[in-house]
Amino acid sequence: MVSTVPNQSSVDLTQIRAEIRTLQPQIIEWRRHLHQHPELGFKELLTSEFVAQKLTQWGIEHQTGIAKTGIVATIKGDTVGPVLAIRADMDALPIQEENDVPYRSQHDGMMHACGHDGHTAIALATTYYLNQHRSDFAGTVKIIFQPAEEGPGGAQPMIDEEVLKNPDVDAIIGLHLWNNLPLGTVGVRSGALMAAVECFRCTILGKGGHGAMPHQTVDSIVVSAQVINALQTIVGRNVDPIQSAVVTVGELQAGTALNVIADTARMSGTVRYFNPDFEGYFGKRIEQIIAGVCQSQGASYELDYWRLYPPVINDGNMAELVRSVAVDVVETPAGVVPECQTMGGEDMAFFLQAIPGCYFFLGSANPQKDLAYPHHHPRFDFDETALGMGVEMFVRCVEKFCR
Ligand code: NI
Repeated sequence: MVSTVPNQSSVDLTQIRAEIRTLQPQIIEWRRHLHQHPELGFKELLTSEFVAQKLTQWGIEHQTGIAKTGIVATIKGDTVGPVLAIRADMDALPIQEENDVPYRSQHDGMMHACGHDGHTAIALATTYYLNQHRSDFAGTVKIIFQPAEEGPGGAQPMIDEEVLKNPDVDAIIGLHLWNNLPLGTVGVRSGALMAAVECFRCTILGKGGHGAMPHQTVDSIVVSAQVINALQTIVGRNVDPIQSAVVTVGELQAGTALNVIADTARMSGTVRYFNPDFEGYFGKRIEQIIAGVCQSQGASYELDYWRLYPPVINDGNMAELVRSVAVDVVETPAGVVPECQTMGGEDMAFFLQAIPGCYFFLGSANPQKDLAYPHHHPRFDFDETALGMGVEMFVRCVEKFCR
């Protein structure tokens, strides 16, 4: 039945949106300030101070110095209820900015090229808003400002320092501004959103010699070529084709002269997958292949293999909550995109391993304004209209969950 009378939720939506719109110039100002002062993982001193200073100014209970530069703000609603956490990452990247904008990075060789300046500004504005509207939700909201997402990872150290305890957090949400999606869309899905990240470094130890006398040598370059080709059979021939995985060798270094057979060759690479059942599998298989090829060629090897982040797995109920909010915020079901998986990784994964939650993408690309460069590009920037949408997403998720 079609009705012209707005339902309760659309009235709330209008009010929330109108109020967030009045905050928009402020949010942009914060984001641009942060953008001008990017800092690398666990060194977010100015960023952390900026956040803490706002929280103090607003009289919001918070704890600083968690996992070095992390901060947790706590806001209690007027009535008793569940505890929801909102997570934002604060760190920048070692990239020289190439954007010619008034708010370009003032820190040489560092840049907010992934949008974490926006995440921090969105979380700050959400904190401000919720503090002004304690009667609109029950329970408690903890806003987590996290260091070092780009590595080595600030999420696990913050969990180790018990940010999810006292009061115990029931669920967590977080977002990433996403230039792979256009402004006005939200990418949300149940299950795996982002991939596990594993890394390896390998040195092939051969025996060098004269380029014209290979029979006296063990050519580390030929051995590594065989290793690299064979590594591609893991995804091609060992992994169920219904599953998704990547093995990439991103670096290869060997040799000093065109007529010298290289003694050693070094390679490094990364592995990605969604299915947590693969944990342990790729490391084992990669070593089997390297060992087998080396043995067949009379070479030896040294291998370092480590798991950086597990996959980002969203809880079904929390994903549904975020999806239902997103439909209202973007105002068109087509704007909510479930086909948004990426083989990129995120240490939000650790929070989602600890408690149920949902991480989602907030479309931020606007090609008309030349704001569509990929993440980690020296010309990355996003449409700041998305900042207010991010605040609205968080606020409405709180009001839906905390009741
Ligand atoms: Ni990022």
